[in-house]
Amino acid sequence: MLNDIELTNLRKQFPVLSQQVNDHPLIYLDNAATSQKPLCVLEAINTYYRDINANVHRASHALSAQATAAYENARDICAQFINANSSKEIIWTRGTTEAINLIANCLTTEFQAGDEIIISTLEHHANIVPWQMLAQRTGAILKIIPLLPSTDIDMQAYKLLLNDKTKLVAVSHVSNAIGTVNPIEDIIALAKQVGAKVLIDGAQGVSHWTIDVQALGCDFYVFSGHKMYGPTGIGVLWGKEAELNQLPPWQGGGEMIKTVSFEQSTYNELPFKFEAGTPNISAAISLASAMTFLNSYDRQILANHEAELLAYATAKLEKMPRIKIIGNPQQRAGGVSFIIDDAHNGDVGMLLDLQGIAVRTGHHCAQPLMQSLNLSGTIRVSFAIYNTKAEVDFFIKALNELQDLL
Ligand code: ALA
Repeated sequence: MLNDIELTNLRKQFPVLSQQVNDHPLIYLDNAATSQKPLCVLEAINTYYRDINANVHRASHALSAQATAAYENARDICAQFINANSSKEIIWTRGTTEAINLIANCLTTEFQAGDEIIISTLEHHANIVPWQMLAQRTGAILKIIPLLPSTDIDMQAYKLLLNDKTKLVAVSHVSNAIGTVNPIEDIIALAKQVGAKVLIDGAQGVSHWTIDVQALGCDFYVFSGHKMYGPTGIGVLWGKEAELNQLPPWQGGGEMIKTVSFEQSTYNELPFKFEAGTPNISAAISLASAMTFLNSYDRQILANHEAELLAYATAKLEKMPRIKIIGNPQQRAGGVSFIIDDAHNGDVGMLLDLQGIAVRTGHHCAQPLMQSLNLSGTIRVSFAIYNTKAEVDFFIKALNELQDLL
């Protein structure tokens, strides 16, 4: 775990944390929804607009050259951050959702009626609906891996779903709603045995651990900037170069073309083929700052810090008689979800907010998961590198007190 001095210094990097909310110090436990941003990210956004604002790849003037260099340097930093084989494999998107939609759209011509797509019961809507839409366009069939009572993916059931019609497996690295960590190495290896492509939704994974996309062996790994201390409106689609090269472009426009005539157009090379229009330049540059920021720490110490906080909070919640924790997976990361008797989760969230404590309540964009658990929603607390045990203690105390009001 980070020691007190390290934690104090780290927290100083996040100005938002020092404010009062409802006359209490802010305790921000909604990090799975979005994390707070360190000074270096705020400064990178500011510096871009203050000093080098210009469009990228388009002009012959100095500012454009500087903006382009910073934007492409960000891509190189990102490629190194996840150990991509080449910066060409890094496609900037608006976020995880857009990255999944891009792949689902571009795969359309590869699918035929009867082909199968496998997802899991744990998925976020962003890793369900694009595949449903692909299935509707092509006649493909969506198959769902069920969960064990622990809320772990049922790997035996998964093996039975795989067959030579399986064209794609798309699963999350970590469930945003309940924190279950999926055995993605095994999921990928099994999918590869039947020749399926694999997409990993890493929105809740990349902020916690060092990701090595080459070691994982999947075809696509996608994530958002804003859940890993970067800005909103930027995300990453990593894909194997050979896979991305085979796909047709998605959106048409400037930047993604080589030549255009009214008769026909030819398309640019990777990664530009998938980046039509002016990109979110400042967000890409500042996301790279977030990556550099994370790499300035020992990532294992940060991961241990988060894991200890999660275990500490979970153990305290387990001792509270009216609280039911959702799931008991082999590994949980990021956050823990729970309900209180028959109390409405929205009421709990509101009462915690009165104490300055930010949590998320509801279905967490995972309605099919909630249906499978027979729940309308949960209360979720989710942690980041800057949270402290004292914050967990305050949260537990507030939760104990508010139970009497429910
Ligand atoms: N997907 C985000 C969450 O889990 C918004 O809260």
